Formats: sequence, structure tokens, C-alpha cells
Amino acid sequence: MIDPKVAMPLDKRAWVTSLLLQQIVIVSSVDANGIADIAPKSWASMAAFDGPILGFGCNVTHQTYRNIRATGDFVVNVPPARLAEIIWAMAERHGAERIAAAGLTLVPAARVSAPWIEECLGHIECRRIDIKYMGNEVYIFGTIEHVAISSACLIGTAFERYARLDPIFYLEEKTYGSLDAARQVGSTPPLRSSMFLVKLGPFSVAEDLLARHLQYLATLRSDGRLAMAGSFLDGDDGLIVLKAASSEEAQGLIARDPLVRAGCPFSLRPWQRTF
Ligand SMILES: Cc1cc2nc3c(=O)[nH]c(=O)nc-3n(C[C@H](O)[C@H](O)[C@H](O)COP(=O)(O)O)c2cc1C
Repeated sequence: MIDPKVAMPLDKRAWVTSLLLQQIVIVSSVDANGIADIAPKSWASMAAFDGPILGFGCNVTHQTYRNIRATGDFVVNVPPARLAEIIWAMAERHGAERIAAAGLTLVPAARVSAPWIEECLGHIECRRIDIKYMGNEVYIFGTIEHVAISSACLIGTAFERYARLDPIFYLEEKTYGSLDAARQVGSTPPLRSSMFLVKLGPFSVAEDLLARHLQYLATLRSDGRLAMAGSFLDGDDGLIVLKAASSEEAQGLIARDPLVRAGCPFSLRPWQRTF
């Protein structure tokens, strides 16, 4: 059967579902007085191996554009998915107020005047070489002068390294995606990652305890400790998949779960994800 394709509007803002999912970064820049600004961007891309050159889309009304036009320096900081809520909240404030409300830490970069954002896991330092104007919108090109990544993101299999980087992708307004798994072509099994499988239950719980349990799982998720969790639809038990370096660490994580503290039985076993 022929797949019936539906015409989409040309305006990207109306792309629901979006056809181009782009990585979210936070661009830091400084003005002529050295005052820093940070702003989320999703229209960033490599432009050329030789240079090397990177570019991103911006608006001329943005401080980011004014700063880069004035000083030329910027850093593309790569945030983990746990910063998603903070990233979306940034638009509500500007300048120093935005930086303070975000609770992010600015530290000096290696080669450029714009700072790194410490809570991000990668930093691509750039110097402006060109700006392409398209009405109120611009595409800013910069040569990459220095690149740094969290050392944890260099250890282990591709699956483990990208799980630690935990990149975040802009799908559409207020909707983002994260990376489930880095897979390698031709490799069997494609993934090799140590995790811990927790069987929880049986439990029958009051609503407030369940809410605290879910809140705890949400914290583990944002700390990058929780791969997935859920309950069986035909029972009164659940499964949690934890990312931990050792059985002791996994035990410690589950022992702090309010449900377990309230006496809910559990079993914990090491588990290797292969697919
Ligand atoms: C997830 C996300 C992605 C964004 N991507 C872009 C982008 O690619 N280009 C852009 O100009 N603005 C983008 N924005 C909007 C700017 O971050 C926003 O207008 C910000 O206030 C600009 O800050 P500034 O004036 O300090 O540069 C994005 C916002 C969010 C929340």
C-alpha cells in the first residue's frame, strides 16, 4: 500500500511533528565590557571540517548576536537532558538574572573570552568569521578554537559514553527528546552496558507515598541514574532499571526510595543491556 503523505506548512514553527530534530546547546558570549550572556539554541551545526567551522542561527534582537558582533567570541556548551527544564525557563529572564535563576556556573574558557557553563558536559570554543544576514535572522559562523569534554564521556562503549553525554534534542515547541541508545552498525550485540534490574513489590500504597516514590524516581532520572521504570498492568509490582557503577551503589539508590523505606520488598540483580 502507498503511504499517504500529507503536505506540511513551510513555516518550521508549524512542524508538528517536526522533521528536523536538532541538538539543543547553550551559547555563551560576552559583550565589549566582558559581561556574560547565555542562551539556548537548537539551530547549531558543523559547517566545514577545514577551519573547522561551526554555525548557528540567531536573531538580531538577541543579546547573543550583539555580543558576538561586538567581541567575536562564543562557546557552544553541550547540556545533558537533565537541564531541559532550566533551559526552557531561560526565556523568562535576560542577562545576569537569567544566569542566576538558571543556577548555572560560568568558568573561564581556554582560548576565548566567552565562558564555559560548568554544568554542561562539552564546550566548543569559537571565534566569529562570518555572519550571513537573512532579514532579522542571521547565521553566525565561527572557527573552532578549542574543544573540551567531560572525561567521563570518553570511557567505555559508545552506548555508555553517549549515555553519559545524554544529549537533548529540540522536537517542537516545549517538546524535547533524549537519546535512548548509541548503536554501532555491524556489531552484535550492539550494546554492552551494565545496569541493575530492581523488582519492586508487591505493594499497595497510599497516594502520597506513591507520589513521593515517583518524585524520587524523577530525581534519579534527572541525575542520570534511572534508565527506565514502570509498573505491571496486571499486578501490584514494578520494575526499575538503574544505571550504577556497582551493586553497592545500586543498593544505596534503591534503599533511599520512599517506597522501600516504607517496607516494600525488592530484589536487585545486575543486568546487561544488549539491545
Ligand atoms: C530549546 C530552545 C531552543 C532555542 N533555539 C534557538 C535558536 O536556535 N536560535 C535562536 O535564535 N533562538 C533560539 N531559542 C530562543 C532564544 O534562546 C531566546 O530568544 C533567548 O531569550 C535569546 O537570548 P539572548 O537575547 O540572551 O541571546 C531557543 C530557545 C529554546 C528554549
